[in-house]
Amino acid sequence: MRATAKHEPQCEPQLEIIMCGIFGYIGPKENSLELVIKGLQKLEYRGYDSWGVATELDGELFVDKKIGKISEANLDDFKDKKCNFAIGHTRWATHGGVTDTNAHPHFSSDKTIAVVHNGIIENYEEIREMIGKENFVSDTDTEVIPQLIAKYRKEMGFKEAVLETIKKLKGRYAIVVTNVGENYLIAARRGSPLIVGVGENEYFLASDIPAFLEYTQNVNYLDDDEMVIVDGGVEFMNITTGEPIKKRLVNIDLKAESAEKGDYDHFMLKEIMEQKESILRAINQDTDEIMHIAQMIKNSRGCFLSGCGTAGKVCMAGEYFFSLIANRHVNFAPSSEFPVYHHFLRPESLLIVVSQSGETADVLEAMEAAKKKGCKVLSIVNSEGSTIARQSDFSLHIKAGVEKAVASTKAATSQMALLMLIATAMVGELQEGRRLLAEVASQINDMLNPRFLTYIKDVAERIKDHENCYIIGKAENYPMALEAAIKIQEVSYVHAEGFAAGELKHGPIALVTEGTPCISLIANDEVKSDTINNTIELKARGAHIIGISPEKHEVFDDWIKVPDVGIASPLVNIIPTQLLAYYISVLRGLDPDMPRNLAKSVTVK
Ligand code: M6R
Repeated sequence: MRATAKHEPQCEPQLEIIMCGIFGYIGPKENSLELVIKGLQKLEYRGYDSWGVATELDGELFVDKKIGKISEANLDDFKDKKCNFAIGHTRWATHGGVTDTNAHPHFSSDKTIAVVHNGIIENYEEIREMIGKENFVSDTDTEVIPQLIAKYRKEMGFKEAVLETIKKLKGRYAIVVTNVGENYLIAARRGSPLIVGVGENEYFLASDIPAFLEYTQNVNYLDDDEMVIVDGGVEFMNITTGEPIKKRLVNIDLKAESAEKGDYDHFMLKEIMEQKESILRAINQDTDEIMHIAQMIKNSRGCFLSGCGTAGKVCMAGEYFFSLIANRHVNFAPSSEFPVYHHFLRPESLLIVVSQSGETADVLEAMEAAKKKGCKVLSIVNSEGSTIARQSDFSLHIKAGVEKAVASTKAATSQMALLMLIATAMVGELQEGRRLLAEVASQINDMLNPRFLTYIKDVAERIKDHENCYIIGKAENYPMALEAAIKIQEVSYVHAEGFAAGELKHGPIALVTEGTPCISLIANDEVKSDTINNTIELKARGAHIIGISPEKHEVFDDWIKVPDVGIASPLVNIIPTQLLAYYISVLRGLDPDMPRNLAKSVTVK
């Protein structure tokens, strides 16, 4: 729709809880709208409910926004629209309906100012009242931003009006603003990611690096409460004091192809296949750093592991690694629960957080709770320069490369490899740990062959029409049962649940009926026979058993052979479950890269 449309009925405004991707461009290229749309397509994993772009055309604000996926945008519609700057947005919404009008960019009533926003403006109601509710066309909190800028713009310059507006906002935001007549962009952040890409006389403002990776690898990270004015150069300032800030230009070691699908149908499959190399990169860490971290853990009094979703299950696996390898008890809590443990925290405690994106709001909250008690925070992230990395006392980069599919795969195995490596360093066996994990990577390389994939696809075919699927594992494979369930749930919408194998008889076994697919994760370890016995119990109730194990057993209806890698078994056992989830999704006609209701980076609590 064009900026002029005002026909949709007004409803009560709602807080718009969004995780979205934002992107802005300014520079010599005249195809800014196309460039911004292509960049947003690379951020589609951040949200795919609606999208929109804005620029100035013939002295007027041009806005085009619609519901649907940015990947479906028709670039031909923008070919003849020449402009040297543009802003755009791809939205993921949980509150505030998915409508054209609620899509971003939002603009002022006089259609001079447009804004894209990622976050929540908590005091939007107050600002709406102040401006006059009748002036608003959308149901979103975001619309207060351009309206307030326009109000201040009557009394002061554009930059000053943006600064004044930002000072009034409460909540979390990353915004990019543009104004008709003044050909520059202003961006600001508090609590939501925003990165400045610095090219040859051109600049990019984006929620994540893949949006502009084909143009530049040089970036400036914007920190909370900072603003940047981008025209012929970049000018950074502190929002509170208005003082200029000098920023370090950082070169990112990522290739544009790493953010592309290449020959694969989906990012999820590509990322599963990349695990043969990503694990090797994860363990290629500086020895002194790993030894230092191992010592930090040993010196701590109360060490906690925390993360969300898949990263949380990785932390649980870490709990087992630290216990089994380093004889050290580490406490795991999902980040959304971690602040509850604040009574146990003291300055000598250590919090280790694990996050692929480095932007997860629940993790940041856990870190805040720990810091309030004076604890040190170590982060294990895949996004260097992310908020979590920058807000920790010490950060390790897993180097898994860009992970775009919503379902986390290669990041998870890299995180596990690194936790295991640290555990071995704690007992002076770092070199042995490295050797074992390098061997695991090589075994994964052998395992991921076309025959293996075809076999897993056949197994997926047999279970794809079942509405329930259960996964069991014991010891270090228990967290993998939980993780396998997340994978299957999120991409195939099959009701999958993971259990500690020994817990079945305490309740869950009542769920099993004739033919229910049950996946049993088994390693050649001391709990193997227990897990086999629990699998036999499932079989006796009619379950169809898919055994993931180095050795065949008569209880299995389908056997997925994995290499025997000892204590590292979670790293190999999880891979067939990732592939099963992927193929069930595809066979059910779904898009595994963009599961419903989810976004890659969860930047709200
Ligand atoms: O970026 P993070 O690792 O902090 O994300 C945490 C979770 O949101 C994430 O692992 C989520 O559970 C994945 N979609 C699972 O595949």
